[in-house]
Amino acid sequence: GYSKGTSRRRTLLKVIVLGDSGVGKTSLMNQYVYKKFSHQYKTTIGADFVTRELQIGDKLVTLQIWDTAGQERFQSLGAAFYRGADCCVLVYDVNVLKSFESLNNWHLEFLKQADPANPHTFPFILLGNKVDVDGGHSRAVTEKRAREWCNLKGSIPYLESSAKEDINVDEAFLWVAQAALESD
Ligand code: GTP
Ligand code: MG
Repeated sequence: GYSKGTSRRRTLLKVIVLGDSGVGKTSLMNQYVYKKFSHQYKTTIGADFVTRELQIGDKLVTLQIWDTAGQERFQSLGAAFYRGADCCVLVYDVNVLKSFESLNNWHLEFLKQADPANPHTFPFILLGNKVDVDGGHSRAVTEKRAREWCNLKGSIPYLESSAKEDINVDEAFLWVAQAALESD
């Protein structure tokens, strides 16, 4: 990333959020940054970012979180957009099998576009979102299966979240910041 400095300096971390349309990428960011959730679905077109500051140890970190379009026809982001990313958050919906099966593609696509110096150690995080739905009765992907995928890809940290109920949202972005800092 850029503007990453020593402990006293402000640290800007660029975070890219990827995953199929409708999994809750925008909702997770809105919950994290604005503490708001809406049932309305407004698909994201192109990409936009929000920022939030957080304190980690003696470091003041600014997370610049890039929300992207899951819908293919709205994806117009070139490699320049991904470059300089410090962490990639992959999101799927635990109730939608296809969104889990797409993860391989999102993972590959990110590495291809961002082209990080060391793809094997680049920090990813996987979020299984919408765990609140139907009290868990409509789950299509088990936690075990998700963790197996994470291990296959090289120990990607995994959290289950709900943007609606604000479950593991703060935790997820804290992990993101920590993972990005550690890989400095
Ligand atoms: P694109 O912008 O099209 O890529 O979709 P997205 O991944 O940004 O999904 P978005 O955040 O717009 O959410 C899609 C729908 O799912 C909306 O109707 C949200 O209200 C709903 N939603 C998002 N997160 C959750 C959640 O954790 N639980 C429940 N029950 N609904 C959620
Ligand atoms: Mg969106």
